[in-house]
Amino acid sequence: MAKEERAGKDRAQTIMSAYELKRLDMPFYSIHTTVYLLETQRSVFVIDSGVLSGRAMLEAALAPALEKKKRLFLLLTHDHWDHTGLTQWMKARGAAVFAHRAAAYPLGADMEHLCQSGYEMFMADFPVEEGKLDSVRKLAAPPCPADGYLEEGSFLTDGDVSLSVLYTPGHCASSASYYEAESGALFSGDAVQCTGYFGAGIQITDAAAYGTSLEKVGSLPVRAIYGGHETAVGRAAVCAYLERSAEMDSRMMRAVVEAYREGDRGAMHMGDLAAEVGRRVGAPYNRQLFGTTAAYLRKYLFGA
Ligand SMILES: [Fe+2]
Repeated sequence: MAKEERAGKDRAQTIMSAYELKRLDMPFYSIHTTVYLLETQRSVFVIDSGVLSGRAMLEAALAPALEKKKRLFLLLTHDHWDHTGLTQWMKARGAAVFAHRAAAYPLGADMEHLCQSGYEMFMADFPVEEGKLDSVRKLAAPPCPADGYLEEGSFLTDGDVSLSVLYTPGHCASSASYYEAESGALFSGDAVQCTGYFGAGIQITDAAAYGTSLEKVGSLPVRAIYGGHETAVGRAAVCAYLERSAEMDSRMMRAVVEAYREGDRGAMHMGDLAAEVGRRVGAPYNRQLFGTTAAYLRKYLFGA
């Protein structure tokens, strides 16, 4: 049963008797990724592995459980670099890795190539200093294959805690959320977004799917949403969070439709449209905003 939430010195939180919940906020650039640890008598379920630079933090958090030879499960919410950085590191420590079947983990990835392409991506979204490729090397890790691939309705349990898998695409195709029904906790990664992470805009690759995913989450008696960068604990906070997320979704759609209608429509360059949408919602122009604008325009024009 649910206990009063309490925050410890190490930012640990305990809300359930069946498992102890800890959160690790791993900072990078101007934001952070949150990794969650659900520890039971016999195992630890880790939700996302975070960024490479969070290794010492994760190592310290897992050390007592590993000493007790507890089983380690890593459940990835999606395949973005800021959620998968320590996947190989965890695998080397015996973790069984799970991800949605839409997640991509190519074997034999060329690390240098990944860093180079990641660097270009980061340059578009963050104030990364020119020539500071090393700052990316400290964050990005090569992807690796999962041990098991999941889909809607898949179920993971160690006998103490059970997590069911919800397929919640929209942010990206591989977005999965993990729901622990006893506590009403939903570990959603980036599947539900309220404020946006890299400015005022949310990051969506499929606006139609995102709307469906929001409805799916809203239909469950969720009492806490533990996201990859944001958290809402308590039923009232969850309802407010979902409401604000739906508002943000409508706001983005409204901005895209109005900018499209008032612009030169078909002749308008997507970059110009995205920049105009950014002005309307107060988001900086970047690669993420460009992709999100395209996703909402697709939904408006084609319903998908
Ligand atoms: Fe993401």
